[in-house]
Amino acid sequence: MEPVSEAKFWQQRYETDSIGWDMGEVSPPLKAYIDQLPKSAKDQAILVPGAGNAYEVGYLHEQGFTNVTLVDFAPAPIAAFAQRYPKFPTKNLLCADFFTLSAEDYQFDWVLEQTFFCAIDPSRRDEYVQQMAALLKPKGKLVGLLFDKVFGRDEPPFGGTKAEYEQRFAASFGIDIMEPSYHSHPARQGSELFVKMHVKD
Ligand SMILES: C[S@@+](CC[C@H](N)C(=O)[O-])C[C@H]1O[C@@H](n2cnc3c(N)ncnc32)[C@H](O)[C@@H]1O
Repeated sequence: MEPVSEAKFWQQRYETDSIGWDMGEVSPPLKAYIDQLPKSAKDQAILVPGAGNAYEVGYLHEQGFTNVTLVDFAPAPIAAFAQRYPKFPTKNLLCADFFTLSAEDYQFDWVLEQTFFCAIDPSRRDEYVQQMAALLKPKGKLVGLLFDKVFGRDEPPFGGTKAEYEQRFAASFGIDIMEPSYHSHPARQGSELFVKMHVKD
């Protein structure tokens, strides 16, 4: 198994504060997406996988979304999140491997992707697509950001291209939006695609 597939690789990064990916705030394009959702979305079942310090989860919670679940297999960021948000339901804080979540136990209306896809071993990308589709309800949505950049390194973030994503996700998803994100965080300007896809029937 590659180190990035093991919790200890990430836990060590949090313990040594080597978390260069952490923006310290909700990602601006995702905040904009959340802000335009109707009130009727507030009780939808939402998953944020590989959530890390989970600024998006915190923001959804602050905005009154009542059914948000966080999964990360590194315990450190989950403990930190629980301290910051003592009223967040602990049953929705899952310290687990995303790939082992059972679709019989968990079904979501939508999933918010934020630097999780780029963190997994690239050889597991089809597995990611299958697992994501399995965890979503019929017509469920995958919304978020994917890097529009190839980093060419053998450590995360593992980037990619629109052409690769279109081909890879087509196995299980219909693509509604996959376009450059124009209001990304300054550190990621010009290197992100905003995506919205739905599970195929
Ligand atoms: C690059 S970090 C991104 C964290 C957060 N989304 C952010 O943008 O700050 C990737 C996160 O995914 C988690 N992770 C990686 N593989 C995982 C897996 N198979 N199951 C659950 N969490 C995983 C890591 O522990 C880490 O917190």
